[in-house]
Amino acid sequence: MRPLSTDASAVAQGPVTPASGLFDPFAPDYVQDPYPVLARLRGSEPVFFSPEIGSWVVTRFETVKTVLRDNQRYSAKLVSDPLRPLCPHARGIIAGAGFDVPPLLVNNDPPSHTHYRAFFGAPLTRERLTALRPFMERTVDQYLDRLLAGPQPADLVAGLTWDVPALALFELLGIPAEDVAQVKEWAASRVVLTWGRPTDEEQVQLSEGAVAYYRYAHSLVQRKLAQPGDDYISELLRARDGDDTRATLHEIGATAFNLLFAGHETTSSAAANLFKAVLPRRDLWAALVRGEQAIASVVEEALRIDPPVQAWRRQAKEEVVLDGITLPAGSRLLLVFAAANHDPQQFPEPETFTPGRRNGLQQVAFGAGPHFCLGAPLARLELEVMVQRTAARLPGLALVPDQDFPYTPNTSFRALRRLMVTW
Ligand code: HEM
Repeated sequence: MRPLSTDASAVAQGPVTPASGLFDPFAPDYVQDPYPVLARLRGSEPVFFSPEIGSWVVTRFETVKTVLRDNQRYSAKLVSDPLRPLCPHARGIIAGAGFDVPPLLVNNDPPSHTHYRAFFGAPLTRERLTALRPFMERTVDQYLDRLLAGPQPADLVAGLTWDVPALALFELLGIPAEDVAQVKEWAASRVVLTWGRPTDEEQVQLSEGAVAYYRYAHSLVQRKLAQPGDDYISELLRARDGDDTRATLHEIGATAFNLLFAGHETTSSAAANLFKAVLPRRDLWAALVRGEQAIASVVEEALRIDPPVQAWRRQAKEEVVLDGITLPAGSRLLLVFAAANHDPQQFPEPETFTPGRRNGLQQVAFGAGPHFCLGAPLARLELEVMVQRTAARLPGLALVPDQDFPYTPNTSFRALRRLMVTW
């Protein structure tokens, strides 16, 4: 959410076609199950303009991947700007607080992206991430103990998947666990403010939350400066060594702000989506319980079949042609990972849950190319630990039949808010 440059009128528009009318990412039916509509769109008009979001929608696997890999012709600078321009009151709150998240990682292009990716990625070593495994196992077990001691049915989101990824991230960042509830709430609000369709009144309230969230991230850096520890933020401060050409304190604060979103909101959703996909497949769950099914391949297939980041943005720096359609320079693109991951040209029988597919690792839940998710190894590890411990401790886990699945309406995150289970 940088200088709020989202003035839709200034951006290249496109023609209204039949697909434009079919696609409404905020429609209740779409939010419940976007896959049938996406399959139709991918088949009939794989690239089309959506006036609803002022963007060209891209649905084929190969095309999505081509754009993701090409950071010369497509800019990532807009990815965390609000999808729609905020109302003047909300803009005033954000501007008044001096809110500034500069282009660093996810919202940046080369050459500066290359510099910051090396700097901010360096401490995220495999050793540092895998060292978190015992902490994750203990934490998951504590949550499962609590679940087992409570009444049935229970909500698996509230009882496991909401908190655990945040606790793992907090351990990495060296933040006290008691702040989890507040940060989770801020992150959920950021989904609505940036990728949703909030009313003006909601925007004002959400902007106040965003300012508090932003200040929290920056105060974290000050705390680590005063009291360094053996954590990721302190490691960045040591690597900076007072040298602003490596990264300024403001940039480290802005990265903390982004990680306090990217590092758990996604994985919480991934975990809830995974259990929702796997539990009805009783043979698969039984095989996991018996330890006869490779967990990593189940995690990968769950990320393919219901990716937590459903769609992500780019902006064309020049005129481009995609699937035979000419897009003017300045066009905004919505790359629909949920459609790409179900492209039958790439994944035969895409609606079938097939762990260990020949090309399963090709799925684009974590993006592809120069911005490929820096936290993917951590997210995969968290998901594996959650599945492994849950299968061991709650072998009879099952979804409550005929329940509603409440999602937060927005273009980009498939965030399930409740998942009722028995065991
Ligand atoms: C299942 C969980 C996750 C999913 C689905 C996910 C998805 C993504 C996607 C799609 C991108 C690429 C955006 C682009 O191409 O523009 C991305 C980038 C990123 N992710 Fe994740 N992510 C997850 C977990 C995490 C975690 C746990 C962390 C941190 C600990 C993290 C940190 C990042 C960072 C720093 C970037 C920016 C990389 C860059 O621009 O160079 N993510 N993530």
